[in-house]
Amino acid sequence: MQTWRIDTAQQTLVLASDDGAIPVCAYWGPPLPADENLVALTRSGERDLTGGMLDLLPPLSLCPEERRSWAGQPGLIVSRTGQPLRPQFTACHQLAEDGLALRVKDPALGLTLTFRILSTPDGIISATTELEASDSVEVHWLAAPVLPAPDASDQIIDVSGRWIGEFQLNRTPWTAGIRLREARTGRSGHEHPPYAILTEGGTTNTQGNAYGMHYGWSGGHRMVAEELPDGRRQMQWGHAGGSMGSGTRFATAPVLLSFSTTGLNGLAIQMQRHIRDTVVQWTDAHRPRPIHYNCWEAIYFDHDLSALCAIADKAVALGAERFVLDDGWFGKRDNDLSSLGDWTIDRRKWPDGLTPLIDHVKSLGMTFGLWFEPEMVNPDSDLYRAHPDWALGPADQVLGRHQMVLDMANPEVRTYLFDVIAAILSTHDIDYIKWDHNRLLPVSDAAQTSGIYDLLARLRVAFPSIEIESCSSGGGRIDAGILAYTHRVWLSDSNDALERLRIQHDAALFLPAAVTGSHVGPRKSHTSGRVLPMAFRAWVAAQRHMGFEMDPRELTEDEEATLTAVTAWFKENRGWMMAADILRLDSADPSVIAELQLSASGDRFVIFAGQSETSTQILPRPLRLTGLDPQATYELTLRNPGDRTRQSRGHLAFKEGPVHLSGQALMAKGIQLPVAWPATMWVVEGVRQ
Ligand code: DGJ
Repeated sequence: MQTWRIDTAQQTLVLASDDGAIPVCAYWGPPLPADENLVALTRSGERDLTGGMLDLLPPLSLCPEERRSWAGQPGLIVSRTGQPLRPQFTACHQLAEDGLALRVKDPALGLTLTFRILSTPDGIISATTELEASDSVEVHWLAAPVLPAPDASDQIIDVSGRWIGEFQLNRTPWTAGIRLREARTGRSGHEHPPYAILTEGGTTNTQGNAYGMHYGWSGGHRMVAEELPDGRRQMQWGHAGGSMGSGTRFATAPVLLSFSTTGLNGLAIQMQRHIRDTVVQWTDAHRPRPIHYNCWEAIYFDHDLSALCAIADKAVALGAERFVLDDGWFGKRDNDLSSLGDWTIDRRKWPDGLTPLIDHVKSLGMTFGLWFEPEMVNPDSDLYRAHPDWALGPADQVLGRHQMVLDMANPEVRTYLFDVIAAILSTHDIDYIKWDHNRLLPVSDAAQTSGIYDLLARLRVAFPSIEIESCSSGGGRIDAGILAYTHRVWLSDSNDALERLRIQHDAALFLPAAVTGSHVGPRKSHTSGRVLPMAFRAWVAAQRHMGFEMDPRELTEDEEATLTAVTAWFKENRGWMMAADILRLDSADPSVIAELQLSASGDRFVIFAGQSETSTQILPRPLRLTGLDPQATYELTLRNPGDRTRQSRGHLAFKEGPVHLSGQALMAKGIQLPVAWPATMWVVEGVRQ
């Protein structure tokens, strides 16, 4: 038996191969002692047999093989000229290269599988599967390295969502059979974003064992969580079924693995750090995240230089540092019916081009950002009239937002897009692109996603100082694949702070604050019709990478003063907050959605406790903190006592001044916050003494 182990500070993965067969994952969990006997560990995990079974338990390997009488979903489904192949791989050996690369072959069928497994400094293990074929094959399914799900796991937490309702958590108990999540829309999607967490009984945000998985691919994927007839469980991830097509070389995206003994927060920290410190390739990691002003919900397609200059004047006074001109500046784009693909400035709206606005924005001390939706084309566009064959899918397809998708696998399309985008970027003072993607694809095709990555990579090389935000009708494409080429995601088109509070909270299981855009929207939300107080709207935006998106000319003096103050607070604190861990708090009151952002050194923190609706009970329950040093003393100050309602009339410690308590007391007993109306955010700052 050959064995291998991959270790990070948080987890160990043990692989074992018997007789040269595809390795099995013999262990995934907390770090094992360095001298653990891996053969004994593997042997001790082997299971008995009983009646009604075959005489051997087929191996739950990194790619379970149908040929070995595997009764579950196989890890590879492949055919050649339409004839199904049933490979059996042998001769497992390790390649001499960095990380762990294990190769197996089926010489008779001319197939080779390579499993690459890497550990990262942030604790994540990344695993991919590659398939090579001597002659062309059709791949119907190729799984990234398949892992057994823990028998002690009681449930699968995975993620669904919708436009303006991203990152909804589903909790499904394990039962016999398959839970299958598949994004066939050509993007990671609002509906089935590629994240899953397996918990053991009693796991909360702050305690218990949890296993995290994320498939880092933007083009659609499938997750299979299967409890087999023999009771074992497997987790498979790969590109959406059939999207790999035919050829001789195939590779899955990495499945990112994390493990925690400290509840969901232990996983969240690993993923947040991995995305922020390893996946995102910052143009300048030390540059403070600038406060955005985005004009979309202020003016939509109604572009007018003097109005935008007046808006910019107001925005900068509130604290904005980057002004983003959204959709509507190109072609003849007066609405969403036309012009995608025609990336030349609309001279009807902009007779002197964008330069007068850019000059004005720059004169105010802000930088300038511009919206594109490069992958799309409207049938009503010069581009489509010239190149109808550049659109992906059939000509009579159902449109989405009146648009089609360009075939990004076509190098001519990519060259066209590179040239038109580069023409704008190289002639204007632009430091930021909002890169949108607003329709579901007519087909699910991996080559499309590879084409998008290729275009983004070329632009990153040509314009290394430009930052890119990935938007897809809000959060329709949020994954480690796209974040390897971009710097920020537009989490949701909902600027309703109550909705945002919940979406941000659940997305924090995976996303750090530094990449999560969050804007203060219009007083009356354009997506919910709700009217919320400015203090709440501002604090919710200040939880992540802050910006504004309302028409600032609508603000009252009071609203301006509140927003200016919260923005100034964000600027004072963003240096440490954008590098902090977001820890979700286990609130005893379900109407309170709370988190603690802990600085990298642990010397300071901020608590955001949002009252999302009226509580069931009359008085607030204590809120227990987490992640603190039990022996240290902390000074806690309520930052915004002025947001108190007049019904809060008791003698509360926080009303009298700072509170000094040990980490142990804060984590075991908690803090007592004032009575709050819905749409109130308590902000408590903590400093280690
Ligand atoms: C969808 C985005 O999510 C919005 O923020 C905005 O950029 C519009 N597209 C523009 O068409």
